[in-house]
Amino acid sequence: MLKLLVTGAAGLLGQRVVASARPTDQVIALTRQDLDISDAAAVFDCLAHYRPTVVINCAAMTNVDACETDRASAFRHNADGPRHLARASLSAGAYFIHISTDYVFDGAQTSPYQTTDAPNPISVYGESKLAGERAVQEVSPRFAVTRVAGLFGRGGKNFASVIGDLLTQPGIVKGIVDNRILPSYADDVAAYLRCLAEARAGGIFHAVSAGEPCSWHDFAALARERLGERAQATLVGVTEAELRRPAKRPMSCVLAHSADASLGLPALRDWREALVESLNEWKTTR
Ligand SMILES: NC(=O)c1ccc[n+]([C@@H]2O[C@H](COP(=O)([O-])OP(=O)(O)OC[C@H]3O[C@@H](n4cnc5c(N)ncnc54)[C@H](OP(=O)(O)O)[C@@H]3O)[C@@H](O)[C@H]2O)c1
Repeated sequence: MLKLLVTGAAGLLGQRVVASARPTDQVIALTRQDLDISDAAAVFDCLAHYRPTVVINCAAMTNVDACETDRASAFRHNADGPRHLARASLSAGAYFIHISTDYVFDGAQTSPYQTTDAPNPISVYGESKLAGERAVQEVSPRFAVTRVAGLFGRGGKNFASVIGDLLTQPGIVKGIVDNRILPSYADDVAAYLRCLAEARAGGIFHAVSAGEPCSWHDFAALARERLGERAQATLVGVTEAELRRPAKRPMSCVLAHSADASLGLPALRDWREALVESLNEWKTTR
């Protein structure tokens, strides 16, 4: 039984982490309105009040382009927030899991990134997330930092999460052809985090789906195929450069998944299988 406190509980991953709790767990699900993690006093008061045994931080400023133009906010939410949570967790005697990103890497490596590879962020978002990782590890090496990549699933607002809606409306959907990623299915990441919470292992972990790396165009093409006649949009391939976005993205950024049988940390299923499941669920709601 865990007394689990989840921050950023209204976000894509936060919702799935809350949903994946076991019936015996006690869950304290806190949205941004309930707790702003960048407010140190509020964070300490909150953890002292609830006395959780495990804290999972799913809160972050995730709009990569907005981070690029608002560095102060990016660091407040993505670096100061996790530092406050780590300190307050230590003081409350709780185990802390912080969520980070593949964007701490530059995406220039052709082989999968191991947890021991040196980060080299190329965006303000990536810099701020790396600062958050380091802040957590400085507070306690017994806390965990779990990097995910290209999260998708129910409740998300990003390209991969809303692909069913995008493709079933008339119009053009642009899929990036020149990136390489192993995405992370939020439901499977949530189950992985629940195992990590049991193991209480410290250090850096990578939680990504299995399978062959893909581009976002590959991802959308499989979704289009599975939607069959319901797909009305035309899927076109574009390069990242053609999108002319404010922040740079790591182009070849495949994380090597951290499975560890001795800690009970599972491999995640193939992203293709996870995408099909997520589209089947999407169909039941439309
Ligand atoms: N989405 C991806 O593709 C992706 C990829 C790699 C890593 N990640 C990481 O995975 C984690 C979860 O991401 P996600 O996709 O679930 O993000 P999300 O859907 O954007 O959810 C993040 C949540 O955090 C909240 N939030 C932002 N600042 C906060 C603060 N100071 N205090 C409390 N709550 C705050 C947001 O509220 P508002 O909506 O009001 O801002 C939102 O509800 C993050 O650490 C992210 O960096 C995500």
